[in-house]
Amino acid sequence: MIIMKYFLFFLLVSFSKMLNAQSPFFPEEDLMPIGAYYYPEHWPEMQWERDLKRVAELGFEFTHFGEFAWAMMEPEEGKYSFDWLDKAVKIAADNGLKVIMCTPTPTPPVWLTQKHPEILTENATGITQQHGSRLHVSYNHPTYLYYVDKIVTELGKRYGNDERVWGWQLDNEPHYGTLYDYSPAQEKEFQIWLREKYSSIENLNNSWGTAFWSQVYNNFLQIQIPNANEAPQGANPHALLDFQRFTADQLAEALRFQANILEQHISEKQWITTNYAYYKFLPPVDLFRNQNDLDFASHTMYLLSTVLNYPSGDLAHRLGSGLELSFSNEMAASVNGYTGIMELQPGQINWGKYNSQPLPGAVKMWIWHSFALGDKFACTYRFRQPLFGSEQFHKGIIEPDGITVSPGGQEYVQAIEEIYSLRKRYTSKVKVPDDYSSRATAFLWKQENLLDIENYRHNEKFDPWQHFYTYYDKLKTMGAPVTFLQEKDEFDVNKYPFMVAPAYQLLDEKLVNKWNNYVSNGGHLVLTTRTGLKDTLGHLWEGSLQRPIVDLIGAEIAYYDHLPPGKNGRIDFDGENYEWNVWGDILEPSAAEVWATYQDQFYQGKPAVVHRKLGKGTVTYLGVWSNDGELERQVLRKLYQQAGAKILNLPSYVFTEWRNGFWVSVNYTSENVKAPVPEDANILFGEAELAPGGYVVWENN
Ligand code: GAL
Repeated sequence: MIIMKYFLFFLLVSFSKMLNAQSPFFPEEDLMPIGAYYYPEHWPEMQWERDLKRVAELGFEFTHFGEFAWAMMEPEEGKYSFDWLDKAVKIAADNGLKVIMCTPTPTPPVWLTQKHPEILTENATGITQQHGSRLHVSYNHPTYLYYVDKIVTELGKRYGNDERVWGWQLDNEPHYGTLYDYSPAQEKEFQIWLREKYSSIENLNNSWGTAFWSQVYNNFLQIQIPNANEAPQGANPHALLDFQRFTADQLAEALRFQANILEQHISEKQWITTNYAYYKFLPPVDLFRNQNDLDFASHTMYLLSTVLNYPSGDLAHRLGSGLELSFSNEMAASVNGYTGIMELQPGQINWGKYNSQPLPGAVKMWIWHSFALGDKFACTYRFRQPLFGSEQFHKGIIEPDGITVSPGGQEYVQAIEEIYSLRKRYTSKVKVPDDYSSRATAFLWKQENLLDIENYRHNEKFDPWQHFYTYYDKLKTMGAPVTFLQEKDEFDVNKYPFMVAPAYQLLDEKLVNKWNNYVSNGGHLVLTTRTGLKDTLGHLWEGSLQRPIVDLIGAEIAYYDHLPPGKNGRIDFDGENYEWNVWGDILEPSAAEVWATYQDQFYQGKPAVVHRKLGKGTVTYLGVWSNDGELERQVLRKLYQQAGAKILNLPSYVFTEWRNGFWVSVNYTSENVKAPVPEDANILFGEAELAPGGYVVWENN
C-alpha cells in the first residue's frame, strides 16, 4: 500500500514539480479547505461539543489536535489515556470536521524528563533546559527515541486506520528551542557523525584546516562542539559548518524516525507532514532533508511578528510581510511539489516585541494570498484565545468569552464563503497560462550557502537573507512563479526558462557543468557576487577568485570591494545611475558583454555586471549588490524581456499569482495600486484598484 502511495505520488510530482502540482491527497476541486486549531485539553469537556460545532458552523472544514498533549495521552509511563481524544475526534467528525492528528513530541511529560534528565538540551552558555516549556529535548537522543517510538506507535495503531483522521503532523515546528544543542550527549553524537563522515582523523584535520592555529586532533574523542561563546577569537569555520550540518541531520533523522513508525500503522489515505516554521528563524533546519520521508512539507507564518521584513509605508506594521509569506510558501511547496499553510494568525499574536492590530482586511488578504500561492489547505492558529499559559494574549477566531467571533474570525468567515464559492467554477480543463509559465524561475537553494555566509559575512552588512530577498522580491515584481531547486534536481529548461543562484558560495565543478548544460539547452542563468567563492569544504580555490565560474560567466573577478557605512559607489546601467555599498566585484570580461560599469572609485569604468550568450541560452553575472535593489530589478527585467518572457511590472509587495484558473493580486503596500487585471477579465471578488490590504480575484476571458 505504501509503495502504491509513493508510486502515485512520484507520477504526480514528476509530471510537474512546479508550483500548483497536484497531490494524491487533496482533490483539486476542493481548492483550499480552511481549518482551525483546537485544544480539547484546554477546555472543560462540556464545552467541546459547543466549540467544535461552532468551528463547523463558521465554515471551517477541519481541525487540528494533539501536538502538545503527551502528558494527557500518557500521564504515567506506559499508561495511555486516549478516551478524551477519542471523544474529541468523534465530536469533530459528528460535526463534519476532518482531524489533523499530531505526534506530541515537542513537549515530553515531566515523568520522562525527570527520569531521564540526560535527554534535555543545553544552550551555548551551558544552561540545561528544564521542564515547563517546550522544545527542550534532544530530538535524536536514543533514550528519548525509545519513548517517542512508544507513543507514536500507540497513536498510529489507534488512529492510523481511522477515516476521521485526515493526516498527520509530526511534532511542531521542529527545531531545538535553543536552536543548537550543546549537551554532552549531543557532543558524543557529533563525534560519531564526524567519524562516519571522515573515516579518519587525518581527513577531518585536512577538511577543517586544523594546521591553522595548532588545532590538530589525534582522535575523534577530542572533538568538542564548536561554541562561539567559548572561542572569542572565532571558532573554526569548517567545524562550525559541520556542526550545523550535523544539527540539520539530527532533526531530519528524528522526523524520519517518527514517519517510519507511522508508515507501519497508517492507511495509504492518510498523509504525513510537519509544519516547518519559517526557515529564516531556524537556519539549522533544512526542509529538503526530509523530502523522501514526508508526503509534503507544510509551513507556518506569522506575518505581523516584528521579526520579519516589512516594506516601507505607514501601514506596513498592520499588513505584514507578504514577501516572507510568499518565500516561505514557495520554499515549502518546492520540497514535494505542493504545500499547505498550517498556521496563519487570525489577529494579534502574543510574542512580538509589540503586537499591532492588523489593518481591517489584512487577515483576509493573507488567506487569499495563501490561496493564490496554490495551498492545498489553510489552517488558522487558533480557534479560541487561551485563558491561561504562555500565549494568553494570542488572538483566536473566538474571543475569550468562548462565543464572540473576533474581527479576524469574521474575516475568516468571509474568506471561507468566497473561496468555497469558487468550487462551483472549478474545472480541471484549465492549463497554466503561457505568460505565467514563460516567467517561471528556479531559485537554486542550498542551506550551506546561507550558513557559511552567516558564519563569516566578511562585510558585516552582507546579510545573506537580504541578498536572497533582493532577488526574490524582484522576481515577484515581474509576477514570476518561483520554485526552489536543489543541485540534485533536474534543471529542466522547459519548466524553468530562468534560474537564479544568488551568492551561491559553496560549489564544485559538477554544478558548473550542470549549469553549462542548462544554459546550452536554452536556460537563462543569473549568478551573483560570492557565487563559487569556495569549494564544498568551504576552502578557497588555489587559483583566481571564483575560479570554477570564470569560463561560464565569460569574465574574471579581478577583486572585490566593500565601502564603509555612509559611503556609496555609483554604477551606470543603460544610462541610469544606481548606488551600492556592501559588495562590488570588479570584473574583467573575456567573452561577455558589459551591462553595467562603476562610475567612481579607483576602478571607475570597470564592469560590474556582465552578460553573455552561451549555446542557446545566456549567463548574467551581477557582481554588485545595489542599495535599493533597483539595479537588480532593471537587469532582471532586461534579461527576461530579451528572452521573450511576458512579465508584469508590479511594485514590491504587490503579488500576482495564478492557480486553478483564477488570478489573484494582493497589495501589502500602504498605497493604492492598480492590479494587472485585463480590460475584459471577469472580476469575481474585489476591485482592480487595490487599496492597502486589498485583493482582487479574476478569470481571464
Ligand atoms: C507557532 C507555534 C504554535 C504557537 C504559535 C503562536 O510558532 O507553532 O505552537 O506557539 O506560534 O503564535
